Amino acid sequence: MISTGKNRLLQLLVLVIAFSSSNDTLANESIAYPNIINYYNIFHPVIGRKGMVVSQSNLASQVGADILHQGGNAIDAAVAVGFALAVVLPRAGNISGGGFMLVHLAKKNKTVAINYREMAPSRAYRDLFLNENQQPDTEKALHSLTSAGVPGTVAGLHYALEQYGSMSWADVIKPAIKLARQGVLINDDMLSIFKKEEATLKKNPETCRVFFKADCIPYQAGDVLKQPDLANTLAHISQHGKAGFYQGKIAQQIVSAMKAGNGLITLEDLANYHVQEVEPIHGSFNGYEILTMPPPSSGGVHLVQMLNILEALPLKNTKNGSAAMMHFQIEIFKRAYADRSTYLGDPDFVKVPVKALTSQTYASHLAKQIKADVITPSSQIKAGKPLRYETPDTTHFSVMDKAGNAVSNTYTLNHYYGSGITIPGTGFFMNNTMDDFSAKPGSPNSYGLVGGEANAIAAKKRPLSSMTPTIVLKDGRPYIATGTPGGSKIITTVFQQLVNTLLYNMNIVEATNAPRIHHQWMPDILLVEEDIPTDTLDILKKRGYTIEVSKSLGSLQSIMLENGIFLGAADPRRPGALAVPVK
Ligand code: DON
Repeated sequence: MISTGKNRLLQLLVLVIAFSSSNDTLANESIAYPNIINYYNIFHPVIGRKGMVVSQSNLASQVGADILHQGGNAIDAAVAVGFALAVVLPRAGNISGGGFMLVHLAKKNKTVAINYREMAPSRAYRDLFLNENQQPDTEKALHSLTSAGVPGTVAGLHYALEQYGSMSWADVIKPAIKLARQGVLINDDMLSIFKKEEATLKKNPETCRVFFKADCIPYQAGDVLKQPDLANTLAHISQHGKAGFYQGKIAQQIVSAMKAGNGLITLEDLANYHVQEVEPIHGSFNGYEILTMPPPSSGGVHLVQMLNILEALPLKNTKNGSAAMMHFQIEIFKRAYADRSTYLGDPDFVKVPVKALTSQTYASHLAKQIKADVITPSSQIKAGKPLRYETPDTTHFSVMDKAGNAVSNTYTLNHYYGSGITIPGTGFFMNNTMDDFSAKPGSPNSYGLVGGEANAIAAKKRPLSSMTPTIVLKDGRPYIATGTPGGSKIITTVFQQLVNTLLYNMNIVEATNAPRIHHQWMPDILLVEEDIPTDTLDILKKRGYTIEVSKSLGSLQSIMLENGIFLGAADPRRPGALAVPVK
């Protein structure tokens, strides 16, 4: 246990004593709601008494909250949110990508992990993305149908509902169909990302037809985006279940597009796609239980590894947000990401030393290498192979219900709008998740960076991910559900969220909003958000860190359940995100 964590009870006692001698009305309110609102805080959570849904879209969060309100459980709501995001956040929400879901089941008192990551088509092979000069061809790896893995989302959502939901498949898809058919107002968030990706998107005539106005003219704010093709696709899936996507009409539409566009996915690949229910990675931190995603995500392994190292360090009174604390964190990040590049891959194909990497013994060993006043250059950490940055976009949502169930789900098309290619007639983009494999293990790719052998491309293998949906238990019950997009920055973002809440007792919104840093071993560069105070940066610069100010890091969508009250936090870094309570 780490002794620097403040004791909540003690804090409460101090508050009560401080306020009992005061006539201040705010103080009295603090006494009335002692553990919920703290008027010393600048940011406050959204409060719900019967449940909470947090996602990157207000419309999708509302869909989930409506389902809870109708008596659905957290799994019903999560599946409905998953489908709704495919309509209202088409850059990341999807039915044609993949992801990971963590589900805590109150009645069984157990947490399960659902792996619905895309799988490489059976015709994929190690050098798939190398050109005639044996160099990675980024265009092929990112903007072609060759970059598509066999989608897992529909199978994943179907599995979750069938195993753990209480409502019908049709009822949880219905709100998404309605949104697609009636249309959604184009807001500035949607517009700005469409604008950013406009040149890529316009290359595909079907994308022009579906996501632009006539003659491929971009939408304006205030226009309504109707998606009749997607509505029909969703209605078909609603009627035919999982087979509605993996067999029959939609499967044939996918395969025809693949044939016309050098894609590899076949009807057999689609029919053979399967979800895996796996044991979550189980760790502990400062007395809390951490449940998170195992490989083929690297997220859970390294989240727990990093928390273990932090716990083994002599933090004493190191202040949160100080240069000293950041130094400790950076040294931890470098070691974890070095290990990631060597050891992590799909466990169906490579042996991943999960137990060893997440053991306290190994963490203590690594902690001993970390000194409060010494920077270890990344080159000295391991003669390993550097990683390349992963790029946007992905999305996370969290749901908790009044029965004590919790869902933490991160899913993706990989980049914004995946490959940018819309499958004709279906209304959905195809993912480009094959790019999460190492195109050329052991030597730099076109970004000048490389990945490890364990993550080489192979038929039916699942590419390594960083997605880290996480549930924290306190006294055996869900305490926090959290996760974020952000590619390789996902793991460090979730780590900082847990350190802020579990060690430094920040409320869930303050913990979310606090500025973040990121280091991923290679390149040996510290990324910082703009809000890190300049004098802290000066200290780090003087110590010898190479610092780059980054665009915002991640977009956490989290819920904390404290004393029976649901506290929601939607990250302000992505506009449009919303925590919707069930009151
Ligand atoms: O699975 C992964 O780790 C990546 N495909 C996720 C990409 C991502 O998070 C981008 N988000 N901003």
